Amino acid sequence: MKIFLDSADISEIKDLVQTGMVDGVTTNPSLIAKSGRDFKEVIAEISTLVSHGPVSAEVTSFDYETMMKEAEVLRKISDNIAIKVPLTIDGLRVCRALSSDNTLVNVTLCFTANQALLAAKAGAAFISPFLGRLDDLGMDGTDLISDIADIYMNYPEFETEILAASIRSTKHVQDVALLGADVATLPGKIIKAMYDHPLTYKGLETFEKDWKATGQSIL
Ligand code: E4P
Repeated sequence: MKIFLDSADISEIKDLVQTGMVDGVTTNPSLIAKSGRDFKEVIAEISTLVSHGPVSAEVTSFDYETMMKEAEVLRKISDNIAIKVPLTIDGLRVCRALSSDNTLVNVTLCFTANQALLAAKAGAAFISPFLGRLDDLGMDGTDLISDIADIYMNYPEFETEILAASIRSTKHVQDVALLGADVATLPGKIIKAMYDHPLTYKGLETFEKDWKATGQSIL
């Protein structure tokens, strides 16, 4: 499973890219607002830092014509930009037009399996089902991933990758990996929480103490 970083924070991106675990980046208007930076500048900087993978940049209009104009500006920033469009009928139209023109499209704000089916038919490179926001409503977001995975499996001609989004916990990551999501986009704190385990640190303390007692050195 690929791991994308869900962030527009340059220092966090720099920090985590050097671990070699980050295969791409996703942003959204809220993350851009949080960064306090100019949208196009920050996307250009992220695209350079993560030149090995897609960087999702989201359009901010709702109608087909304006979304297409915004996409035109955004896709010129770098070759690795994926245009993020909302799962509306205009968003799907934009998806179809851009995909036919060899541009990666990430269809976002997906909350049902039928929406994911339409995104695949529109040629999306990625579909972004939002787990955490469904959980917030007392539903089980992982059921949605499971349904989309089953539907996509039935139609091998679909090339759309399932990009699990709105991930709020390490349990979510494990659940979507078990269900076969192609990608999970994660806030930095979740990536860090994935490797932190108290028993790992406790074990290291013991190994360090016992190793010192041998008086040996590898170097
Ligand atoms: C990613 O593409 C989404 O925009 C993001 O994961 C949304 O997460 P949130 O529901 O925690 O805001």
